[in-house]
Amino acid sequence: MAHLTSQVCIVTGGSRGIGRAICLELAAHGATVVACARDGAKLADVAREARERELPGVIEPCVLDINDGAAIDTVVSEVAEKHGRIDVLVNNAGITRDGLMASMEDEAFDAVINANLRAAFQLSRAVTKHMMRARRGRIINIASVAGVMGNPGQCNYAASKAGLIGMTKSIAKELARRNITCNAVAPGFIETDMTDVLPDKVKEGVLPLIPMRRFGRSEEIATVVSFLAGEGASYINGQVLVVDGGLYM
Ligand code: NAI
Repeated sequence: MAHLTSQVCIVTGGSRGIGRAICLELAAHGATVVACARDGAKLADVAREARERELPGVIEPCVLDINDGAAIDTVVSEVAEKHGRIDVLVNNAGITRDGLMASMEDEAFDAVINANLRAAFQLSRAVTKHMMRARRGRIINIASVAGVMGNPGQCNYAASKAGLIGMTKSIAKELARRNITCNAVAPGFIETDMTDVLPDKVKEGVLPLIPMRRFGRSEEIATVVSFLAGEGASYINGQVLVVDGGLYM
């Protein structure tokens, strides 16, 4: 059960949805999880849940806006200093600013690229120094099926996630000889705040396209991330694990 005991993991977007489930799952396997997001109160809730469930690991709340590159470097340095190691980075935080390409403002395009792609690059760069020294590490990027399939109304989001997949493979090739792997998980349609805002018409339109005829749960992404973080995935590198009930195949 506790296959991540003594591992130190950084998870972005840990306050809710998929990120929250990832934090709890890693802690359930014994990890020390630095859960980052902007909302300190929600992060404290996640940490409390881990304590109440008496999980073997610990969740440490960490207020971080991933659009702040300097803050990213500070947080990573502080985690390395406090714990003496960083074993796993999960780049999970992400946003949508949907709209048709023809009328999308530059600002909506840039905001999504910066949060979903640029921040993942900056975080990966910051942890790599510590992982290289330890000659071990796991970087796990939460992409999306939109990054492989495209999606109308999401040209910015799909571009950010396709970029994340390209970056995953590049990092995987650059760091493999240092025993650092980099993989992506591409969720399909998962029930969270992000998808809650979609009109019922959109949701009803998606459902028949999913062979399993249901949306996914955050926990179904978290277990895959936990697997990729553990020893069982030691020879998996540069892969995109699509977790979508069969939507994309
Ligand atoms: P969510 O909207 O419920 O949670 C997003 C998380 O990112 C929150 O914790 C939020 O605080 C954090 N975040 C956003 N901007 C931030 C910033 N500037 N600084 C720090 N934290 C920030 O979304 P959900 O559904 O849990 O998504 C998590 C990841 O999974 C995202 O990368 C999303 O693109 C991806 N994904 C989600 C799918 C879904 O169907 N829900 C499908 C495919 C991918």
